Amino acid sequence: MKIIKLKGREIYDSRTIPTIECQIFLEDGSSFCSSVPEGLTRSSHEAHEMRDGGKRLEGNGVRKAIKVIEEIIAPSLIGLEPNVIEMDQLMIGLDGTDNKEKLGANTMLATSIAILRAQASMFQQEPYELIANLCGAETVTLPFPLINMISGGAHADNNLMFQEFLILPVGTQTFAQAMEHAILFHQRLKKLLIKEGCALVKSDEGAFAPELKDDYQALDLLVKAIDSFKGDCIFKIAIDCAASQFFNRKNHTYKMSDQSATTNDMIEWYAQLVEDYPIYSLEDPLDQDDWAGWAKLMEVMGDQVQIVGDDLFATDPARIWHGIEHGAASAAIIKPNQIGTVTESLQSIQLCQEYGMNVMVSHRSGETCDSFIADLAVGTSSGQIKAGCCINGERLAKYNRLLSIEDQLALSMLDV
Ligand code: PGA
Ligand code: ZN
Repeated sequence: MKIIKLKGREIYDSRTIPTIECQIFLEDGSSFCSSVPEGLTRSSHEAHEMRDGGKRLEGNGVRKAIKVIEEIIAPSLIGLEPNVIEMDQLMIGLDGTDNKEKLGANTMLATSIAILRAQASMFQQEPYELIANLCGAETVTLPFPLINMISGGAHADNNLMFQEFLILPVGTQTFAQAMEHAILFHQRLKKLLIKEGCALVKSDEGAFAPELKDDYQALDLLVKAIDSFKGDCIFKIAIDCAASQFFNRKNHTYKMSDQSATTNDMIEWYAQLVEDYPIYSLEDPLDQDDWAGWAKLMEVMGDQVQIVGDDLFATDPARIWHGIEHGAASAAIIKPNQIGTVTESLQSIQLCQEYGMNVMVSHRSGETCDSFIADLAVGTSSGQIKAGCCINGERLAKYNRLLSIEDQLALSMLDV
């Protein structure tokens, strides 16, 4: 089934920033769409995102990227059958730069996901099934969700230093049950915030963004909500510190409230935090280039808590490999738009899995209703996913897609 046309269009994401929708048409009249997110607190090691610049939409327009899809990428794909691995290679060749400067990672990823969907449909497969085939996997598992409940940092207009305070339901048998617990938790936390007199302000990812005394108060609120279940539902806490945001590159210190802290101070402080709270996971606890600090932190608490690299790795296999060699983290965040193609996202995940590093597939703070990352998490059996709070269409698109996949898998097991 050959590709006959590629169309790009400018749409808007959950933060009102323009983004790309790509539609691929096949000769039988079917068509397949995809759209891509954008991050706010980006790693400086992410692949290039193509934007128009200039005055229109404050420079954020994506008309140039759409021209790239229709005038540069389309002529190379039209007349061929959709094949994501081959076509990603073709785009990487057309781009020819180290960081996707010429075509743009956003342009390439939108095209890559649409190709994956078209290819899957040719074989009457779901995207996660094709991903599992591409990875050589015979079985798949659902990930467990890490759900953002309280936001701070650059994602919220409050005084919290950390960017995300997440919870993960533990001990549940199914994804659906984990979501049930998360939804109950969200309702419980909302009541607690009202009781504490906090305004119910929301962040970019839909989490609560209350004005609190400090980050300890956010953690105390989560613990209070957890305790209110009296053991009926068990939750752990995860934090995305996004430490590159409060790292001062000039004097190599971290700004914590009014104080400045060295890497060693930070490590000591995290060690205490992990003692005091039921923390399962710490994401980006240190700056994206503080490799030695990460290795030390792993030595001190790597066996007690999952240490996750997001800005550190930027979904780049070369940086992940460096992290594996230097024992810098025990998990990697996978954000396809940090690297720019489905194929390279799969390479990063497989590299982690081969060397015992955990994988957490992730959305971005500026999202669309595209649910590709849900299929990616299942197809690769990534184990973990974070897609923001359990409200708002663009976040629920991912969680609801996972519910639907779990249901499909249960049905297919009954069929056997
Ligand atoms: P971003 O934030 O999408 O704004 O980069 C998410 C994260 O840091 O995990
Ligand atoms: Zn992060």
